[in-house]
Amino acid sequence: MLSKSPTVRVLVATSCVEVHAALESIAPYQAQEAVTTRGVYHALPNVQLAVVEIDSLIEEEVSRATLVEILNSSPLPWTTPERFLADPTTWRAHALAAAGNFQSFPPATAALTSYSGGVGKTTLALDAAVHFASRTKLPTAVVEFPYGPSALRVITGVTEGAGLVDVAHSDEVKFPAWRGVSLVTVNYDEVGGLLKPEEAAQSFERIRAAHILTLVDSEFPHPWLETIARQIGTFLIVAAPRADAWNNAAALKQAMQRRPDIFQHPQVVFNLVEGWGDRLTQMGLERTMDLPRIKNPERLDGRLGTHMLRAIYPYWRGQ
Ligand SMILES: Nc1ncnc2c1ncn2[C@@H]1O[C@H](COP(=O)(O)OP(=O)(O)OP(=O)(O)O)[C@@H](O)[C@H]1O
Ligand SMILES: [Mg+2]
Repeated sequence: MLSKSPTVRVLVATSCVEVHAALESIAPYQAQEAVTTRGVYHALPNVQLAVVEIDSLIEEEVSRATLVEILNSSPLPWTTPERFLADPTTWRAHALAAAGNFQSFPPATAALTSYSGGVGKTTLALDAAVHFASRTKLPTAVVEFPYGPSALRVITGVTEGAGLVDVAHSDEVKFPAWRGVSLVTVNYDEVGGLLKPEEAAQSFERIRAAHILTLVDSEFPHPWLETIARQIGTFLIVAAPRADAWNNAAALKQAMQRRPDIFQHPQVVFNLVEGWGDRLTQMGLERTMDLPRIKNPERLDGRLGTHMLRAIYPYWRGQ
């Protein structure tokens, strides 16, 4: 029997009437309204989603700028009327997932990539995926786009089973599962020439459709990454505090920002930070997060992955 779908509690702080119409499409819901900054602030503990038009709020007790800071640092998903109207169903899913309803995480894709080698792309992708899968039990995949043989197969010890190329010819492929994660591996040196770009894109679309969270671990540039880039919601450029690696990361972010129609939300993540944080700040390097060098990263116990997940689901809570 299907369980009754949960009611989502939404704060509506906008005069935009279409928002109310859109709420009907994501019933059941309970709406609470606010017209002042104070009203929004005090409603936050009681709601699961906030749709806020900052500029239309009357300032009372809290300034608009402070309210934005509060909203951005709170675990509550919030958005603007425009973004809510673009995809109400996904916002409903975010709201319920943030409220602890794990079955509600909306599908997401992210790519971890870099010009530099050895910065932690594979480690971070696997750690995030294993952690997400173990916490939510939702279908999770890691897809690799290497140049040489499969690194995923070497690291996980998985030697059997289908790879990316197999899904080009059939949509009933079962990928090997490792610690709850589907591994989509590629021996690029053997099969790189076998897939046309549109076949790679179609294969990826099938994988994405079969999973809630799909993470791509890719070299940059990579011909297949180009063809699937529009299917990726978040680009995480992995850097390390070595002069060449942070320089490369800054250059890659700029290159992606010049093509915003292809590369959505490029952000730099600094990995392997050991007392370098301050120096990076002094160099004015903009980045989403610093991740420390840890002992035993190969355990994949979620210490690193939980931060990566927060870049994808901002309300993701700890380990
Ligand atoms: N935060 C961390 N703390 C400690 N060790 C780490 C961390 N991140 C990665 N490592 C280690 O650094 C090495 C390189 O990591 P990884 O293979 O994930 O990088 P990569 O970017 O995928 O490399 P490649 O370009 O070769 O694919 C590995 O030995 C890994 O265990
Ligand atoms: Mg790697």
